[in-house]
Amino acid sequence: MSILPIKLYGSPILKKKAKSLTKIDENDKNLIVDMIDTMYTNSGIGLAAPQVGISKRIIIIDVSDTKELIETMVIINPEIIKAKHEKMMEEGCLSIPGTKGDVKRSETIKIAGIDINGTEFEMEANGLIARAIQHEIDHLNGILFIDRLSEQEQKAISGRLKYISSLARDNIDYYMQK
Ligand code: NI
Repeated sequence: MSILPIKLYGSPILKKKAKSLTKIDENDKNLIVDMIDTMYTNSGIGLAAPQVGISKRIIIIDVSDTKELIETMVIINPEIIKAKHEKMMEEGCLSIPGTKGDVKRSETIKIAGIDINGTEFEMEANGLIARAIQHEIDHLNGILFIDRLSEQEQKAISGRLKYISSLARDNIDYYMQK
């Protein structure tokens, strides 16, 4: 297990559409274990593979308070097949530290995906889990939560974004230097 550096806003990989997996090999499984380690270490509630520099359609979610490994949800090639009831709520992102903003997301979703053993599944999710899944799927499509903010909110954080992208450009690991 190892903690991976998190790609910050400004890193080109965060704007790329990630690739679907056709099979899950040992490298992918090791990546998932490292992603889980990285998410917990940085107190995140979700993480997408592009955030650790791998352009693959893998997301992990854990919105529980206990942060037990067993509660981590791993979804490979996630797809939203139903979505309803939009709601506005504040979000943040490990790739954009120190930044928050209101994003409209569906309250209830149905998703399809494959688990770490390659088994296809479908599930319904509500509230915070649904929101986290939509946020992480956005990452797989090169979309960040700040892209969904109002123009006014985007303006308000532009200075902070400039600072974060300067760290990304100089390849500075924000979380390690803290
Ligand atoms: Ni994020």
